Amino acid sequence: MIEMLDIHKSFSGIEVLKGVSLRARAGRIHALVGENGAGKSTLIKTMAGVIQPDSGSLKLDGQSLRWRTPGEAKAHGVHVIYQEFVQFAELSVAENIFMGDKRLSPGGFLKRRDMNQRASELLSKLGVQIDPTALVGDLSVADQQMVEIAKALSHKVQVLILDEPTAVISGLEVELLFERLRQLRQEGVAIIYVSHRLEEIFQLCDDITVIKDGELVGSRLVSEIDQSQLVAMMVGRQLADLYPKRKARKIGATVLVAKDIRSGSRVKGCSLSLRCGEITALAGMIGSGRTELAMALFGAEALSGGSITVDGAEVKHMTPALAIELGIGFLTEDRKKEGLAMLQDVAANVTASSLGDVTRRGMLDRAAEQRLAEEAIAQYRIACRGPSTPVALMSGGNQQKVLLARWARTANKVLILDEPTRGVDVGAKADIYRMMHEAADRGLAILMISSELLEVVGMAERVVVMRDGKISGELAGEDISEHAIMTLATKAHEEAGVPA
Ligand SMILES: Nc1ncnc2c1ncn2[C@@H]1O[C@H](COP(=O)(O)OP(=O)(O)OP(=O)(O)O)[C@@H](O)[C@H]1O
Ligand SMILES: [Mg+2]
Repeated sequence: MIEMLDIHKSFSGIEVLKGVSLRARAGRIHALVGENGAGKSTLIKTMAGVIQPDSGSLKLDGQSLRWRTPGEAKAHGVHVIYQEFVQFAELSVAENIFMGDKRLSPGGFLKRRDMNQRASELLSKLGVQIDPTALVGDLSVADQQMVEIAKALSHKVQVLILDEPTAVISGLEVELLFERLRQLRQEGVAIIYVSHRLEEIFQLCDDITVIKDGELVGSRLVSEIDQSQLVAMMVGRQLADLYPKRKARKIGATVLVAKDIRSGSRVKGCSLSLRCGEITALAGMIGSGRTELAMALFGAEALSGGSITVDGAEVKHMTPALAIELGIGFLTEDRKKEGLAMLQDVAANVTASSLGDVTRRGMLDRAAEQRLAEEAIAQYRIACRGPSTPVALMSGGNQQKVLLARWARTANKVLILDEPTRGVDVGAKADIYRMMHEAADRGLAILMISSELLEVVGMAERVVVMRDGKISGELAGEDISEHAIMTLATKAHEEAGVPA
């Protein structure tokens, strides 16, 4: 059993953990939940020796301990899979998994071939086929996450902590991860599991601890509470329906038409059209080419075939700059790599794609920038100290809101959102859904990529499903269901002999 007792932690005078306690028992899966910025990741980092608590104690199997480094925590079998994991892009998958492993040190006995072999075994236990010699930088975020999980499992673990492990994986991969976690629970590992997907908690976890604003709200048995009680504990109020009621909105003209687009190795001839005032979802399994198709539409990937037409005029060479000029916005799935300027503050990030609004005679108008940022902070309930908070210091969900605020300001025609609610808490999800409906009401065409089927069914008026680089079907209105989407996304219907 690992116990955290009365943990306090302040950053530059602001108390982020105000006496939080958590007890996770061996052979059980303990959910740690709370809104964005509640302090979950900070608490985890104190358990892992990454940051030092100001006060409070830590006990492992009744023994009081204090680690000064992550290495000391690891030596006691405490392993963490971080929300914002750090990997070495230029090293191979196997090298990342065994990085820092003593057996690999000079004179160690693990040879490269054995290392690759072991890495393969660990990954296939997780049910993924990843080449152990591939460079981590070339993998998708989902595969990088699987590598991170394999890395933790390459050690003897007593306590395994996962900070939003399913934020970047979906469907089958989630199932395989859960299977592995249940197996580890069986083997007596204490598991702490952080997630904003509440249905996962009811599926997987035994115990639950809720924190809010750095304070303990309570710990319960999962079997004791239901979803709406949990939401009330988290956000401190009853939440109405997560998905806004669909207003009878007039679907307008077609603004963007993609014809037989080909790009890279993953987009193999896709056609779709987007209409004003309509929320269209692009569904499909990870690796089906959804993100790559979206990147091609935005000009972030070159076309090797097909055409893109915006407002009836063919765009010969789409580039991101041209797309922005045409009123197309793109919220990327990888906010750290492609979206946010991590070292800059909220104000700079919110206005990054609409610099025209905050420059006067070529000079940055800092006051205008601050004002726009303050508006966005209020409108999207972004938890931060103000427009000059560096985004690097903000919680994951709040970083996502900053990016959304940016694109909602910039795009006036098409808004492409790749996994817009990844890592976002329930309250904020409701805010984002509301914002998407408002944008559609204003006449924007919205294309939402989502791996969460409930979200697709709850939000989309039309669903375009991809499979293996091609569009495998479209669903609209009453025909949209989880089952229908899954059928189109997987090969099931081919085997059943139904034509695609
Ligand atoms: N190094 C730091 N310096 C200053 N403030 C920090 C630092 N790390 C975290 N914070 C602040 O502490 C608070 C708690 O952040 P934390 O990342 O623990 O939240 P979280 O519960 O994990 O949220 P999320 O669900 O969004 O991941 C936030 O307000 C965050 O901005
Ligand atoms: Mg966090």
